[in-house]
Amino acid sequence: MNKLQQLVCLTALLGATATHAQQDLKWAELAKTEAAALFGEKCGMCHRGGGMAMVILARRLPADQVLLESRTDLQAPFIETVVRNGFGVMYPISQGEVSKQQLATISAYLVKKPGAK
Ligand code: HEC
Repeated sequence: MNKLQQLVCLTALLGATATHAQQDLKWAELAKTEAAALFGEKCGMCHRGGGMAMVILARRLPADQVLLESRTDLQAPFIETVVRNGFGVMYPISQGEVSKQQLATISAYLVKKPGAK
């Protein structure tokens, strides 16, 4: 490979990385609007605004982890198991109330990469 070929190659690589990053950003923005609204609709009556779940979770979790949306340790299989089977005082939520697709959207929204805000 000569210098020019190397440069072309590098530019293509950088271009691809930038496009990918833009797609990630778009997804993140979408998640903030649609998924957050879905979470609010299906889970928010207990898991937002000092709701019942926040009061109960505050008994065993540090204050900054009482809101599910602030957690960075949640994993999709855990969320989905809790939702479908219930957990402590939380009753099970059926597919009739929250579809498979909706649950996948909600858990993707709650599963944050470590350090993500
Ligand atoms: C009727 C109120 C209510 C609704 C609606 C509700 N939850 Fe909960 N949830 C709770 C309560 C209460 C707890 C704490 C249970 C306990 O510790 O005994 C909880 C706990 C959880 C936990 C476990 C947190 C932990 O670390 O222990 C997850 C995950 C969760 N809920 C997800 C959801 C999701 C996702 C939805 C919406 C699809 C939802 N919940 C809807 C009341 C609710």
